[in-house]
Amino acid sequence: MSNSEFIHSGDAKKAQVQTMFDGIAKRYDFLNHFLSLGIDLYWRRQAVKALLLEDDNLLLDVATGTGDLGLTALKTARIQVIGLDYSFNMLELAKHKIEARHLSESFELVQGDAESLPFQDDTFDALSIGYGIRNVGTISAALSEFYRVLKPGGRVSILEFAEPQGWFFGRLYRFYFDHILPKLAGMMSSKAAYSYLPESVRHFPDRGDFKDLLSSEGFRQVEHRDLTFGVTTIYRGVK
Ligand SMILES: C[S@@+](CC[C@H](N)C(=O)[O-])C[C@H]1O[C@@H](n2cnc3c(N)ncnc32)[C@H](O)[C@@H]1O
Repeated sequence: MSNSEFIHSGDAKKAQVQTMFDGIAKRYDFLNHFLSLGIDLYWRRQAVKALLLEDDNLLLDVATGTGDLGLTALKTARIQVIGLDYSFNMLELAKHKIEARHLSESFELVQGDAESLPFQDDTFDALSIGYGIRNVGTISAALSEFYRVLKPGGRVSILEFAEPQGWFFGRLYRFYFDHILPKLAGMMSSKAAYSYLPESVRHFPDRGDFKDLLSSEGFRQVEHRDLTFGVTTIYRGVK
């Protein structure tokens, strides 16, 4: 697959991304930790912190994948988690991890689409999505669903890659993301999926535009926090 074949919006993108994650599921966790030198664990912990979880909260982790964000959240409070993803193979891996940790009572998995959530209005105290919003077909459709299913006062925490803003680190990042990462990942998994990654980050709205999207869906107290020189950003908002 050459770069020009990637689709960056709409239903065709959804199908492309679903196939991609079904294909890389088995190596996903290993490559996450390997390619980020383990920093991804810290990024997820910070995204969970931003949710201000309390005991008895109900958390929806959208695009849960292999479940790492939901599992991190479960370490911080006595909560219930529902993890939603449309990739069957990613969910299978999440299921094994949840069972191995004896957490099936508190972590439920649902196969579904972030843009059409199978939940009633005002259901969740908190909603997270880690490295998922960049992959949906229509960002505003997903954000509108997040707003709908959160209770009034509910918190959203969105963890996503961003382009670092500093000159030096920006260049280093682009070299790593564009040249090293697809090659390394290509040896162990799908080169196409890891060429799509930097391209999809470039297509994602910048920090200001993304916060405007959150505000236009109705979220209040919208803010962002850059992590690790701005390689990753956490966006927060309140319904
Ligand atoms: C990069 S992975 C992130 C997984 C996990 N949240 C993490 O932090 O490692 C992106 C996930 O988003 C899922 N995804 C993408 N678009 C989706 C959609 N429209 N509905 C549900 N899941 C989606 C993919 O199947 C994939 O599992």
